[in-house]
Amino acid sequence: MATTIILDCDPGHDDAIAMLLAWGSPEIDLAGVTTVMGNQTIEKVTRNALSVARIAGITGVPFARGAHRPLVREVETGASIHGDSGLDGPALPDPTLELDPRHAVDFIIDTIMDAEPGTITLVPTGALTNIALAVRKEPRIASRVREVVLMGGGVHVGNWSAVSEFNIVIDPEAAHIVFNENWPLTMVGLDLTHQALATPRVRAEIAAVGTGPARFVGELLDFFGDTYRQEQGFEHPPVHDPCAVAYVIDPTVMTTTRVPLDVELTGTLTLGMTVADFRSPAPETCTTQVATDLDADRFWALVVDALTRIGDPEQ
Ligand code: BDR
Ligand code: CA
Repeated sequence: MATTIILDCDPGHDDAIAMLLAWGSPEIDLAGVTTVMGNQTIEKVTRNALSVARIAGITGVPFARGAHRPLVREVETGASIHGDSGLDGPALPDPTLELDPRHAVDFIIDTIMDAEPGTITLVPTGALTNIALAVRKEPRIASRVREVVLMGGGVHVGNWSAVSEFNIVIDPEAAHIVFNENWPLTMVGLDLTHQALATPRVRAEIAAVGTGPARFVGELLDFFGDTYRQEQGFEHPPVHDPCAVAYVIDPTVMTTTRVPLDVELTGTLTLGMTVADFRSPAPETCTTQVATDLDADRFWALVVDALTRIGDPEQ
């Protein structure tokens, strides 16, 4: 049976690929896509999400716009990686889908409260602002979601500071709320996503699909690969966000370790660090786990398979 998810994202090159993976995978039932500022402003990432929906031929899925700023801090975008539009590189078609009239926070709450308990998985691939606001507004969602599988953080590794990852550090207070809720939470962080590299072999497999959406992914990876080389010194770019979707499709594509996780809010050098406590076996009460090792071949096979299923929706 397919797993029902809400993808909460800030497209964003890798968010766009996460959306394609979710839409093209029979193991996923996409209940909605919600947006949050991050890689760019909320206006830009929301428009990008709708453009990607058109490219992928996504229909019958509500899209809802969410938080325009972090809970406490000023907006900090990822323009150095994702460009001025948030999705620089490919030509982006004008959206055809209408936005859901609800704020993303209300959409998330309504969807979880209307569904059978334990059936909705939240997959955040941006800042955790919407998720934090939702669980503060309607605390009952904490016991009703199936699990939270997020891209963000890393075990004492960073990309926006020495030890902080972008999605966490741009709204650390939101992340703190989400990591401290009593719900099952899987952190698909940099330890894992730095193994999801778009190597020339992967690029060739995607190109061989030969469809419009596959060409779109190729153009995304051209731009993303260039900025990752220049800004972060990667030979091939790590494609973070689809890893969280892949875990929902097939958890055996990666290994995970149960460990208490928390988010640093007061450090001068460590703001936004996700701190894992490996001192002793995780206590019974521990609801968090971290993804560690990726089967990269199987991961990319899932992406190629999803693109193949999506086909050429514009034709
Ligand atoms: C995360 O930051 C964003 O720029 C990407 O979309 C990804 O979600 C990686 O640190
Ligand atoms: Ca993202």
